[in-house]
Amino acid sequence: MKRTWLVTGGAGFIGANFVHHLLDHHPDDRVVVYDKLTYAGNLDNLRDRMADPRFAFVHADICDRAAVEAAVDGHGVDTIANFAAETHVDRSIVAPDAFIHTDVLGTHTLLEVARERRLRYHQVSTDEVYGHVPDGASTEADPIAPRSPYAASKAAGDLLVNAYFVTYGLHTTITRGSNNIGPYQYPEKVVSLFATNAIDDLPLPVYGDGRQERDYQWVGDHCEAIDLVVRRGQPGDVFNVGTGTSITNLEMVELILEALGKPASLIRHVEDRPGHDRRYALDVSKLQALGWRPRHTPQAAIVRAVEWYAANPWWWRPIKSGAFREYYEQMYGQRKEIAVGPGAAPA
Ligand code: NAD
Ligand code: DAU
Repeated sequence: MKRTWLVTGGAGFIGANFVHHLLDHHPDDRVVVYDKLTYAGNLDNLRDRMADPRFAFVHADICDRAAVEAAVDGHGVDTIANFAAETHVDRSIVAPDAFIHTDVLGTHTLLEVARERRLRYHQVSTDEVYGHVPDGASTEADPIAPRSPYAASKAAGDLLVNAYFVTYGLHTTITRGSNNIGPYQYPEKVVSLFATNAIDDLPLPVYGDGRQERDYQWVGDHCEAIDLVVRRGQPGDVFNVGTGTSITNLEMVELILEALGKPASLIRHVEDRPGHDRRYALDVSKLQALGWRPRHTPQAAIVRAVEWYAANPWWWRPIKSGAFREYYEQMYGQRKEIAVGPGAAPA
């Protein structure tokens, strides 16, 4: 079935990769990117798509109902894929308000427009809604237990989506993805930050002991999963998306340094993130039963991501020399270096 998509947050990292995926794989689909262009939104992420007659861009906030309605009605949208969100955990700790605005109220606004017009609605969510997972792997049936303002705002979005499925019979689906990495990731997230810092021989600030575990997945694999779930998911379905393998942050850092031929002396252990979830791990068997398989291990995804940043300084250098500097100073300037290892106080 051919679709006309409203891809909210489509100028951000995963949204833009999803737009590339759709235009490359579904020649009959049309794509309307709807984005507020916050610090994380960047039209450079879509610059080679702007002239495509199947592509349109709307600059607006998902909390602005009239603007959402105008975009949906004006372009004949039948499917909303909601990627728009405030997404960085560290920013949510310093300033949570924007997270509630966009991730909760924005999701509600989109659901209302979808309910009135009976649109297909997909919510891009996160494994962070499950909270810290001491052992085993989260299944979709597990209770959600978010612990950061970011994770709580995303969990609220998930609950609203489920309420619109149960109460109004809206055809909704949710995917809960693990840590995405790859092209166009704003260099606040760890792999894009560390790769670009290491290229410039700058320190890599590892939070705490670096033994936290994450499932780093290639963004293109995640996009394929979302596409499949929108086309094949049943109303109310929730799917985890990840490789099913979590690795430590130290292993991730070592892979980045090795891929760039940089020394371990760039590593600095610094004060930990407050409330840091030590481990996320996903059971992805439900999605695999739909026929999806990740094409990359976390290790392969990390190396491929590093190669992209090494080959594309045109994309990240302007970001890192702009307002990002102020952010970096605010986030890392006062952060004390800590000792880890035998004899050091527990991180
Ligand atoms: P991002 O921060 O790179 O991009 C977010 C985009 O949303 C930006 O283009 C921004 O301008 C836009 N946006 C923000 N507020 C908006 C608003 N009020 N109205 C319209 N547009 C707005 O985010 P990302 O990393 O690409 O994440 C996309 C989605 O995937 C988010 O919902 C996030 O929670 C989810 N997710 C991310 C990851 C990850 O590892 N990055 C993993 C799982 C799920
Ligand atoms: O798990 C999915 C989530 O992954 C998404 O929902 C979020 O939008 C996305 O930001 C990401 O959240 P994380 O907090 O896991 O990602 P981040 O890149 O900020 O951090 C990854 C790990 O690296 C985490 O354990 C914290 C650590 N870290 C991060 C930064 C920025 C460091 O050690 N140093 C750093 O400077």
